Amino acid sequence: MQELTFSPLSILVLHGPNLNLLGQREPGIYGSLTLIEINRLLEAEGLKLQAKVLPVQSNHEGILVDTIHEALGKYQGILINAGAYTHTSVALRDAIAAVNLPTVEVHLSNIYRREDFRHHSYIAPVAVGQISGFGVQSYLLGLQALVHHLRSG
Ligand code: DQA
Repeated sequence: MQELTFSPLSILVLHGPNLNLLGQREPGIYGSLTLIEINRLLEAEGLKLQAKVLPVQSNHEGILVDTIHEALGKYQGILINAGAYTHTSVALRDAIAAVNLPTVEVHLSNIYRREDFRHHSYIAPVAVGQISGFGVQSYLLGLQALVHHLRSG
């Protein structure tokens, strides 16, 4: 029997501030995997899903905004862990709304079990959905959900 093939998808994976320090940063909260290891797992999951995954990390809000703008025409969807900008950045939210690319928000930690200031996300209202609290699985589940959303839309 012939294997099912899907039209190729390209997914932009955006990691916000301080996520470059994963592995050494508060491992009790964020786990011990480095960002490079998380990106490798995402690329492997992408292969299974027949989706190309391109990871970008920045500690700078403007660079994240520029990267979202440049995604138009290159990527079909965005998987984003905006880190602390989740809770502060109207600019990131507006950029996602402006390009209107299906976006899934992920967090390693469960932001609703943590400090009050982490309970609000500026990204959530412009995202297809949010996955929070499953460590690296949040990213992998988020990628699956985004690809499924794009293929069923
Ligand atoms: C985070 C949660 C944010 O509150 C925090 O500022 C981060 C990481 C997470 O993945 O759990 O930097 O987005």
